[in-house]
Amino acid sequence: MALKVTWLGHACFLIETEKAKILIDPFLTGNPLSAVKADDVEADYILVSHGHGDHLGDTVEIAKRTGAMIISNFEIQNWLADQGVETVHPQHIGGGFDYPWGRVKLTIAHHGSSLPDGSYGGNPCGFLLYIQGKKIYHACDTGLFYDMKLIGEEGIDLAILPIGDNFTMGPDDAIRAIKLIEPVQVVPIHYDTFEVIKQDPNAWAQRVGQETSANPTVLQPGESIELS
Ligand code: NI
Ligand code: MN
Repeated sequence: MALKVTWLGHACFLIETEKAKILIDPFLTGNPLSAVKADDVEADYILVSHGHGDHLGDTVEIAKRTGAMIISNFEIQNWLADQGVETVHPQHIGGGFDYPWGRVKLTIAHHGSSLPDGSYGGNPCGFLLYIQGKKIYHACDTGLFYDMKLIGEEGIDLAILPIGDNFTMGPDDAIRAIKLIEPVQVVPIHYDTFEVIKQDPNAWAQRVGQETSANPTVLQPGESIELS
C-alpha cells in the first residue's frame, strides 16, 4: 500500500500507513479552511509540534474520542496529562523512537510553544518520519535555519514547509530551505488560513520548479499525495 498523505489545512496532515493513521497538528475547529470536522477524523496517533492553538488544535478532544496515542515533547505531554489525556508518548528534540508503523524523530524548530492557558510548552519541534521506506520532513512552524542541511542529508522524499511568512518562513526563505534540504517533493503549508499569512502558492511552486531540483505540489485542503 502506498503512503497516503492528506493535507487537512494549515499544518494538519493525515498520513495513512499500512498499519496506522497518523494525524499531525490537528487544528480543525476554528480553521476557516479546514477540510474536515474534528468529530469526523479517525487517528491512531497524533503528533503535536508545539503548543500554539493552530497546531495543538483539537488534539485533546480527538485523543479522548479515538484513544489515539499522542507524540510530542515532554512539556506538552505533562500538560495533556493535566487535561486528562493518558495516552501519551513523550519524546524530545533529536530523539527518535520506533513505533509499530515507523520511526518518529523530533527536529529543531525556531519558534515559540506556549500552551493555550499560557503554560510552558517546551521547545517547538518539527518531525522527521521514516515510514515504509519513505522519509517525510514536516518542518512545522519555524524560521529558516542552516541545519536543515543536516536533515536533508537523510535523503528526504517529501518536505512539508511553511510559506506563510509573518509567523514562519515566507516564500523566499522556503526556497532557500529547499536548497538546503534537497527533497524529491515539496508541499507548501501554513498560508492563507489568516489574512496576515496570505500567499500565492502557485507562484511559489513555479519558482520552486525554476530555482530548485524539487518537485512542488500545491494541495487544496482535503487533497492527498501518495508516496510509493
Ligand atoms: Ni506556532
Ligand atoms: Mn502556526
